[in-house]
Amino acid sequence: MPVADSPLFTPVTIGKLTLSGRLIKTATAETRATHDGFVTPELLQFYIPIAKGGTPLIITGNIYVGLDGKSAPRQVGADDDDKIPGLRQLADAVHAHGSKIFAQLNHCGRQVVPQFAGVSEAVSASAVKELVTGTLPRELSLREIQAIIANFGAAAARCKQAGFDGVQIHAANGYLMSQFLTPHTNRRTDRYGGSFDHRINMLRDVFREIRSRVGADFPVIIKMNGSDKLPLRHGLNTDELVRVAMVLQKDGADAIEVSVGHYESGMPMVHGTFARCLRNMVGGAMRYLPWVRRWGFRLFWPLFALLFDVLWPRREGFNLRYAQAFARELSIPVICVGGFLTRAAMEAALARGSCDLVSAGRAFIADPLLYRHIQHDEPGPRCVDCNACIGHLGVQPVDCYHPAVRAQKDAMLARLT
Ligand SMILES: Cc1cc2nc3c(=O)[nH]c(=O)nc-3n(C[C@H](O)[C@H](O)[C@H](O)COP(=O)(O)O)c2cc1C
Repeated sequence: MPVADSPLFTPVTIGKLTLSGRLIKTATAETRATHDGFVTPELLQFYIPIAKGGTPLIITGNIYVGLDGKSAPRQVGADDDDKIPGLRQLADAVHAHGSKIFAQLNHCGRQVVPQFAGVSEAVSASAVKELVTGTLPRELSLREIQAIIANFGAAAARCKQAGFDGVQIHAANGYLMSQFLTPHTNRRTDRYGGSFDHRINMLRDVFREIRSRVGADFPVIIKMNGSDKLPLRHGLNTDELVRVAMVLQKDGADAIEVSVGHYESGMPMVHGTFARCLRNMVGGAMRYLPWVRRWGFRLFWPLFALLFDVLWPRREGFNLRYAQAFARELSIPVICVGGFLTRAAMEAALARGSCDLVSAGRAFIADPLLYRHIQHDEPGPRCVDCNACIGHLGVQPVDCYHPAVRAQKDAMLARLT
């Protein structure tokens, strides 16, 4: 299809911001900040080629809003005013090549191994043990909840001050906002737990606080699950999650990005093959797990890899059926993440009306010039969904760790001016 006829290269508006195209870079944690959360040249080097490739919008990896919500070493923070100059460098570096940038704001809640992240304890909506990490969080008090809400607002204001074009609240994938939404992880009986209306209060309060700090014209978008995928536990289904999005749309959210699953769901968040991922994890982040889990994964990771390969095979647009349910009910843009690699699959998703934009993570990690290559039908390094990038999370800088694909990528970047 000629570029002029492709839905992928038509403008789209998120709040008051117009993007030149509909393929964007989704959030992928960087492991490229300093140990205390400051932006580094290494982090800029990850984003500059993606901006040079003409990507309309880049969403950063998840940024912690307060130290209590930090999930991994070398994660970026927006928890203090002294982070603003570094964040400004990042926004300027991306803007210099014409892309827009949103900051993804997050609190990890119980999905953390405290010794790994370098924090003293994990907190959550309720004291419900996380089965993958073995972390038993402490239930947050009402006063602590108010402090976290204020931290989200202050972090968003800092990002705006640093020149970012918008923020994304991370309410997907089982992190703290998701923990408040999900009955399995939220057993509270106060204003923040119990009924649907109470469980959404945390996310609504965070949204309202951010809105009050950044104003009506600054895009605030939300990443949500299309399904919690928590079999045998009380997770949320697509209808309930669409209801959450409808409330947030009414409150003034500018777009919804649709993902899937918690840590406890396994790996539905990324499909593909898992041997490289799990082998790297066992030698990396999993060294910090409590010993039963550590040895369990060390001994049985090849079996888990086989099982995961069967459960979550490689597939483009694997969240489309969820995104479609959101798109049917919402008038704000719906962004679908999950497995996108080829122009044909992206265009088909848009043409069917399943979403208004598509986002990609691993495809951009393998090929930072993906947008340009897709637009001009040029070949580039192609992600093979090996998930080695995830296996290195928190231990080595985010990058492609598939040897053949990485060699192509490095050669391409060496030629990039
Ligand atoms: C290395 C890596 C880091 C990620 N970090 C984040 C993150 O910080 N925030 C987030 O919302 N999702 C994160 N994700 C999930 C992606 O945003 C995305 O949902 C997932 O990779 C599926 O999209 P893809 O098939 O285009 O890669 C990460 C994924 C990868 C591979």
